[in-house]
Amino acid sequence: EIGNEVYYTIEAQKGQTEIFEGIQTKTLGYNSSFLGPVMKLKKGQNVHIKLKNSLDEETTFHWHGLIIDGEADGGPHDVIQPGEEKEINFKVQQDRATLWFHPHPKGKTAKQVFEGLAGLIYIEDSKDDPFEYGENDFPLILQDRTFNNQKQLDYQFVQHPDGTMGESLLINGTLSPRLTVNNEKVRFRLLNGSNMRNYTIKLSNNQSFQQIASDGGLLNAPVELKELQLTPSERAEIVIDFSKFKKDEDIKLIMDDGTVLLPFQIKDKGKEVKNEIQEPLTPVTISNEEMQKQVSKEIVLFGMGHHVTINGKKFDMNRIDFTQKKGETEVWEIYNKPDMMGGMIHPFHIHGTQFKVISINGEEPPENLQGYKDTIALDPGDRAKIAVKFEEKGVFMYHCHILEHEDNGMMGQIKVE
Ligand code: C2O
Ligand code: CU
Ligand code: CU
Repeated sequence: EIGNEVYYTIEAQKGQTEIFEGIQTKTLGYNSSFLGPVMKLKKGQNVHIKLKNSLDEETTFHWHGLIIDGEADGGPHDVIQPGEEKEINFKVQQDRATLWFHPHPKGKTAKQVFEGLAGLIYIEDSKDDPFEYGENDFPLILQDRTFNNQKQLDYQFVQHPDGTMGESLLINGTLSPRLTVNNEKVRFRLLNGSNMRNYTIKLSNNQSFQQIASDGGLLNAPVELKELQLTPSERAEIVIDFSKFKKDEDIKLIMDDGTVLLPFQIKDKGKEVKNEIQEPLTPVTISNEEMQKQVSKEIVLFGMGHHVTINGKKFDMNRIDFTQKKGETEVWEIYNKPDMMGGMIHPFHIHGTQFKVISINGEEPPENLQGYKDTIALDPGDRAKIAVKFEEKGVFMYHCHILEHEDNGMMGQIKVE
């Protein structure tokens, strides 16, 4: 780190990980054998990243949720061949947020993420953070995987055109994890890093928790919740107040069907705890006025399996589907058109921007969807209006974040000029 310049090397590599005791599972990772490091960036920094591909196949490095120019965004055009390197440079422009990075090569994204390529990015700002990494601030990357008889991740073996679901739940790459927490407020940064599974999470004692941030950063105010849905690629920062619970109480983070994600053990911190949740202050990058604009782009999500389309078309690397002016807000209407089978939920994601949800089916969105988002989940039949602004130029992808849908062509390109 020199002044405001920071340098990183991120290497996609092959490795072996002991997920099951005594067994080596072949995995992929960034700078490690499985998953990746938490990259901590600060607003205002000039970041220089050397990207290295040490895999046997081509890959790209995509910065999901980051405001970045199209050239550095790591979409399917930015392929790095095995053994090759590339450098990207960008300035961190956005406020505190939990983002992530993952590969995006055409038709191979789902497989590479499934095998372990995913890492978190924390954007920090100058405000004091009352939570401390590893002490009362923990990342929770939720992923489901299926292993074959040899306990290997054989993507071909489980691949499904509507998205791969696994019977084993991993958190941060670990099976059946437990976590010891202090009897104080603890922040969890959740990422749904699964290919297609939706999670609705809750506490086993049915107590509430607070959501303080969504994809793009802090909400205007903490939102009290008993349940929270996360579709693929969505993030949420939640705060659980463990001082409310008895020390020997058996508390778990579970899914709505009762599946256990994470059992907690509460320990006495032994000193006074005073981690007040910081006063959220969502920066206004899209004004209320801009949110009143007429719809100028319509997106229709349709189909299942191999037949998924956006606006009736499949992804074509050589076709630009939309254009938009840099710095200008437009209102997009996203419609999840049901099919004869009813259809399915599609998490719709846009690269290189954080947007605001104006309405869902004509109604004001729930409070925890009123902050900045880069992914919005639509049930079949849902119509959402979102206000979208790009701060950087270039070609950006928008797509369904069920990774197999994306690989099957449920993706389009917008050129920002
Ligand atoms: Cu997670 Cu195309 O993105
Ligand atoms: Cu993305
Ligand atoms: Cu989809």
